[in-house]
Amino acid sequence: MNRIITSELRALVLSCSLAMLTTGMAQAVDLGDAAPSFSPPDAHSIPNNDFGKMVLKGQAIFLNTPQNASQFVGNQLNCVSCHMDAGRRENASPLWAAYVLYPAYRSKNGHVNTLAERLQGCFRYSMNGKMPPPDDQTIVALESYMYWLAQGAPTGVKLKGQGFKRLAEPAQKPDYVRGEQVYAQNCALCHGADGAGQHVGERMVFPALWGDGSYNWGAGMHSIPTAAAFIKANMPLGKGNSLTDQQAWDVAYYMNAHERPQDPRFNGSVEETQKKYHDAKSDLYGQTINGVMLGAHSTPSGGRLRAKAQ
Ligand code: HEC
Ligand code: HEC
Repeated sequence: MNRIITSELRALVLSCSLAMLTTGMAQAVDLGDAAPSFSPPDAHSIPNNDFGKMVLKGQAIFLNTPQNASQFVGNQLNCVSCHMDAGRRENASPLWAAYVLYPAYRSKNGHVNTLAERLQGCFRYSMNGKMPPPDDQTIVALESYMYWLAQGAPTGVKLKGQGFKRLAEPAQKPDYVRGEQVYAQNCALCHGADGAGQHVGERMVFPALWGDGSYNWGAGMHSIPTAAAFIKANMPLGKGNSLTDQQAWDVAYYMNAHERPQDPRFNGSVEETQKKYHDAKSDLYGQTINGVMLGAHSTPSGGRLRAKAQ
């Protein structure tokens, strides 16, 4: 009896350490539910010196991105539109948890990305803009803000609340019609029936969820599992976790079943771009919904920047 337990235990310990070893080799150590918690420092404690000035600049870019990094932003979203609470909130991909995970291998581009390259991607896709050079002050400022938020955190460890908390697979396949109902009841008030958000003059009050003013087809939020995870934890604003998982999946599907700016990696053919970058089953790019092939009527990526350049 004792011996069986001992050998079972040994097998368990072995498989655990093996799992840690393999995750450790591939990416950061992931302790699952045992992931360590972390609290970033108080916003008022940013030091009053030259480094602090760069941190504040990064924070300002993060909160008001089109105003403070206008040459790289093609839409009116802010970084904080998705990384809520100034990039501090758990399960809204907080910056302090991201900082300690780079450099990291990303399957999206098939190589090890520095933090600077990761940030460049945010501008290219989520902000539908263009990449700042890696040593540009925009990147230096954002990295300084992240570094400051992460002070005291262990590196190479996935912290509690990192990224967006993935939901279990839905009981029913995500559905457009059910999603449309969830949207009308819980989202349209702020984001508009047409998903275009609300603006006062140039200023965005509620961000666009689809259409020309939103993130483009290459952005992480266009993935339905990612959007469902974000929405479940964070929307409707101030009432996170009030939707059921199924409602979050359905409304994520509905949101991402609409047209948005083209994937900047578009090579002239929706079919080929789909094959190369959008072959996941849950990815609606290139699929025909309500008689419209998504991606076939997208405006070119770059938004406002492109319009300006012409
Ligand atoms: C439309 C929503 C959206 C906007 C706007 C946005 N992001 Fe993100 N961001 C995401 C999503 C979704 C991911 C996760 C993508 C993935 O890997 O699947 C992400 C990932 C990241 C990561 C990596 C997080 C980690 O834990 O590895 C960083 C850093 C980041 N974003 C910074 C920024 C910055 C800086 C801006 C503004 C310039 C920005 N983001 C704008 C949605 C957004
Ligand atoms: C009370 C107003 C309000 C309601 C209702 C609301 N949102 Fe939001 N939503 C916001 C605001 C404001 C932000 C930006 C957060 C920030 O800047 O701190 C946001 C951000 C988002 C984002 C990320 C930014 C973008 O444009 O892609 C998504 C996705 C989103 N909401 C989806 C939804 C969905 C789906 C619902 C309904 C289930 C919903 N929201 C309900 C106000 C609202």
